[in-house]
Amino acid sequence: MLCQLTPQNDPRLLVGLGTSDDAGVYKLNDTTALIQTVDFFTPIVDDPYLFGQIAAANSLSDVYAMGGVPLTAMNIVGFPIGVLDKEVLLAILQGGQSKVNEAGALIVGGHTIDDPEPKYGLSVTGTVHPDKVLTNAGAKPGDRLILTKPLGTGILATAARAEMFPGGVCAAMASMAMLNRLAAETATAFSVHACTDITGFGLLGHLYEMTSASQVQAEIDSQALPLLPEALAAAAYGLVPVGAYTNRAYLKQVTFAANVPEALRDVAFDPQTSGGLLYSLAEQEAEKLLASLWAAGLKQSAIIGKISEEGTGGIYVY
Ligand code: CO
Ligand code: CO
Ligand code: CO
Repeated sequence: MLCQLTPQNDPRLLVGLGTSDDAGVYKLNDTTALIQTVDFFTPIVDDPYLFGQIAAANSLSDVYAMGGVPLTAMNIVGFPIGVLDKEVLLAILQGGQSKVNEAGALIVGGHTIDDPEPKYGLSVTGTVHPDKVLTNAGAKPGDRLILTKPLGTGILATAARAEMFPGGVCAAMASMAMLNRLAAETATAFSVHACTDITGFGLLGHLYEMTSASQVQAEIDSQALPLLPEALAAAAYGLVPVGAYTNRAYLKQVTFAANVPEALRDVAFDPQTSGGLLYSLAEQEAEKLLASLWAAGLKQSAIIGKISEEGTGGIYVY
């Protein structure tokens, strides 16, 4: 649908609607470009403070995925005023602000509408050097792919609603509330070819955005995927969100080796909230980045596959 909008050809627009990237990037001058992004959604956890934290970590992530530093954020709120207690809204906003402040950024405003279904998210503004923008379009054959957070948040949020797999659910909550700041800061020391963050289209959907924008093919080692505890068990039990099936139906360019278990395929298609960063970089750089991520404490980071050759975006999972 976005293709039907009039293209905006302006040299100041470094990243626009055309490549399904994480955020828009606008060149202010030779040393600074502006990054802008917005995201909001309905509650995925019962605790309003935690919901605020997760929504903010998720919104801030798109700035990190572009190689940038967040500066300011604006709250976007839908709330059933007069139906739900105002304390609930306060807790959501406090949770959001805690993560924005942890990112070193400031909340500078926002807008609330009366809405029967609560919604919360943020529009985040950041900056990046115009030569250091990390798009999803630069992956090269021979690159290794690094994922910085374990998969399975959509499956475990479904498990939470069924009041099952509490250990996995707890780990998923903590993972979703964690900023991608440390991973992004660690990666600035390395020569990254492409980056995106893993959110609603799942690992394979966002990887496909990268491979198609970069005109390459990828191979993923399913045994190397970092997984949240109990994510596989919950998927095998059938606690798979609708979005995982939608992603699977849409992604015709993904093929699997026959021996990849069904539950693992579900995890690879599982829509993530506030998922990890996916980096593509040359093999030696990837090994060094992985060691640095581990040294920084991000021990779930893993090399999950490689860019095999030039192509039209196809992904083979073995
Ligand atoms: Co994104
Ligand atoms: Co986003
Ligand atoms: Co990016």
